[in-house]
Amino acid sequence: MSLQKYLNNLESLSGKKVLITGGTSGIGLSIVDQLLYKGADVVVLARNPDKSKEVKYRMLEKYPDCHLDFISYDQSDFKSIETAIDVILKEHNDFYALILNAGCFTTYKTQKVDDDMSLTIKTNFVGLAYFLDILIPKLNNKHRIIFQGSLAAGYYFKKPYDLYKYKASSFQQYCMSKAGVEEIYNHYRSLDLENLSFYLVEPGLTSTDILRDFPFPIKQLGSLFLKAASHSVRKASLTALLALQENIHPCYIVPHSPFTWRGYPKIKPFPKKRNRPYLYNLVEETIKKGN
Ligand SMILES: NC(=O)c1ccc[n+]([C@@H]2O[C@H](COP(=O)([O-])OP(=O)(O)OC[C@H]3O[C@@H](n4cnc5c(N)ncnc54)[C@H](OP(=O)(O)O)[C@@H]3O)[C@@H](O)[C@H]2O)c1
Repeated sequence: MSLQKYLNNLESLSGKKVLITGGTSGIGLSIVDQLLYKGADVVVLARNPDKSKEVKYRMLEKYPDCHLDFISYDQSDFKSIETAIDVILKEHNDFYALILNAGCFTTYKTQKVDDDMSLTIKTNFVGLAYFLDILIPKLNNKHRIIFQGSLAAGYYFKKPYDLYKYKASSFQQYCMSKAGVEEIYNHYRSLDLENLSFYLVEPGLTSTDILRDFPFPIKQLGSLFLKAASHSVRKASLTALLALQENIHPCYIVPHSPFTWRGYPKIKPFPKKRNRPYLYNLVEETIKKGN
């Protein structure tokens, strides 16, 4: 089946408001495009105002009647997260779904924040946990919450002891941060909240600008690997799109190929060995200190 046909077969999202973090490049931008194509009202939470303007311009050219809004949001900054939540609650409390897509993969040596924490851990894991810790208790309507996971989470098996001073490679930092995303998902779905349903989706592998902070040779090699092993960014967006379908109940969605690198989405049980509650306990201490 062609990708366009797959997309056309998905139900319309007309009249549904979808919020998405990190929708100004890569997979997030492609999801925004597909959401607008399916008629959703879209609100992008994004950190870069210039990029937001450019995306708005491009999308309005393509979909002149679309509803596309932006909220300023930096997931590595607690104050910015709090301000964005105020806007969501005041102006967009009627949202149908929130797609938690923002993420980064930075070099540990050059990208440190808060003493010794890497920007990767702060953004992907701690910032996300902080965002939901404040937002979720304030939501009273029915919503879907969709986490953008990663197969990299499956490569993290070491027991962590500290979010700070964690002397691992940038790759291990990234894997830990995405294992953290999974554990935030596990934490909230275990609460059985009546009004909220939780989904974990993975895009597989796709060539984006995620390695932008790495020095030249690593960036080039990483991009070559991603290009060789991956599928298109449009296909990588489909797992999130599937999670928005009315008849899809809370679940874990991955690309269908072996190792879940590529392909059309399939639903699968979440692997038990990837339940790591110690990761949520770890982040909980840090976000409570931030309050
Ligand atoms: N590419 C892959 O093969 C792959 C595989 C598995 C999972 N993923 C996950 O998919 C998601 C999207 O990644 P991508 O490959 O599309 O990379 P990308 O092109 O670098 O996109 C990442 C998005 O997150 C945003 N972002 C980064 N740091 C942020 C912060 N502090 N606050 C708010 N937004 C921030 C970026 O904003 P700007 O536009 O301003 O830079 C961008 O829109 C990530 O969660 C990543 O972990 C990717």
